[in-house]
Amino acid sequence: MGDNAKFSINGDNFEYPVLTGTVGPDVVDIRKLYAQTGAFTYDPGFTSTASCESELTFIDGGEGVLLHRGYPIEQLAENSSFMEVAHLLLRGELPTEDEFAEFTNTITLHTMVHEQLRGFYQGFRRDAHPMAIMCGVVGALSAFYHDSTDINDPAQRRIASHRLVAKMPTIAAMAYKYSIGQPFVYPDNKLSYTGNFLRMTFGVPAEEYVVNPAIEKAMDRIFILHADHEQNASTSTVRLAGSSGANPFACIAAGIACLWGPAHGGANEAALNMLKEIGHPDRIPEYIARAKDKDDPFRLMGFGHRVYKNYDPRASVMQETVREVFETLKVKDPVFEVALQLEEMALNDPYFIEKKLFPNVDFYSGIILSAIGFPTSMFTVLFALARTVGWVAQWNEMISDPGQRIGRPRQLYTGPTKRDYVQIDKR
Ligand code: SDX
Repeated sequence: MGDNAKFSINGDNFEYPVLTGTVGPDVVDIRKLYAQTGAFTYDPGFTSTASCESELTFIDGGEGVLLHRGYPIEQLAENSSFMEVAHLLLRGELPTEDEFAEFTNTITLHTMVHEQLRGFYQGFRRDAHPMAIMCGVVGALSAFYHDSTDINDPAQRRIASHRLVAKMPTIAAMAYKYSIGQPFVYPDNKLSYTGNFLRMTFGVPAEEYVVNPAIEKAMDRIFILHADHEQNASTSTVRLAGSSGANPFACIAAGIACLWGPAHGGANEAALNMLKEIGHPDRIPEYIARAKDKDDPFRLMGFGHRVYKNYDPRASVMQETVREVFETLKVKDPVFEVALQLEEMALNDPYFIEKKLFPNVDFYSGIILSAIGFPTSMFTVLFALARTVGWVAQWNEMISDPGQRIGRPRQLYTGPTKRDYVQIDKR
């Protein structure tokens, strides 16, 4: 721990401890600041605020580094599996072979959903956005699994965590099937987590579905790239909801709702729609100009990041995965060429260089997902499916923190001061 941070306000001087983590910026512990100074700090977008202590994920935005419990995302994407990363995030270490077998078996045994949940989907219009269905169905899980909603019971927290991780692929696949009018496909416990999801999504009862190992591997890697990402908007939403004692199903539903926004997880759908709208490399300069125009609300979707001021390491892996999937499927997509040239032009443009805007995880993901066969409306659903592991790990970390309190920010009030009520005939 370094020297105290010194602070003076209204002629009075105060000191606050500086806390040092294992890596990354120090933090100034201002928990006593309001009580001692009568003033709040002001940080609307939380650009300079650490909301918690965590051991899960570390990001160095300047260097483009992403570690999950210390392991670089590039190494996990290359060598690990989504279930192994889930074990790492949820239980703290990469599993031994026995631990891995026990964990994957536990998850596998929770992949089915309550049969009455199937009826829940009938209430939606067939053209409902799958993310709207995800918000509703995941929020409804607490109506089906009352035996795992007591957050003070570690055993119930564990079962709820396994249920959420295990059932998300089933719920996501059901949302897709419902939107295309095909029957739901039950999980097949002989398959891997990701293979099971692919079969529930693209399989039909009328014929056998054979999982393509190369697509299974690419999909599994995409899940790894989306698993967790420090205190992003949706994770912070899950933590804030959980801080009130809300049950884990409700908290994850809140995270899904937040992720849906186009500035966050909704960017993968928006990015592919943007690339399709651009359509040809010749039109890239027009869109780059629009992105730079202060009077135009258009932004390059899949570009920029609150933390990364360097290349998002997930985007690099994603770009490589595009090439692998295209090679496997023997497809080409002109949109990929547009994306590559758009990246090239933007990264050489003074505006993007000065503002340190680079492609993020959402820039290339849609190209792969589209090639595999997903409609754009499913892209953020897949993000939510994978991020559920991170949300659940972060939620468990928060609930287990003895210092945990309900989150309750304050404000800078600029509204009217006290005034008396005026009857309507006097206004
Ligand atoms: C995710 O937080 C996470 O970790 C999220 C995520 C995760 O894994 O959980 O990584 C997933 O959400 C990735 C981000 C996906 N969103 C997009 O791709 C949408 C497009 N990007 C932007 O909307 C923006 O970059 C954000 C929302 C991602 C970040 O916004 P910030 O940090 O608040 O930055 P900002 O909006 O203040 O931008 C800084 C400047 C601004 O210009 P000035 O006002 O300073 O002149 O950069 C400009 C912005 O106008 N800018 C862009 C831009 N992004 C920022 N200009 C053009 N195109 C863009 N994409």
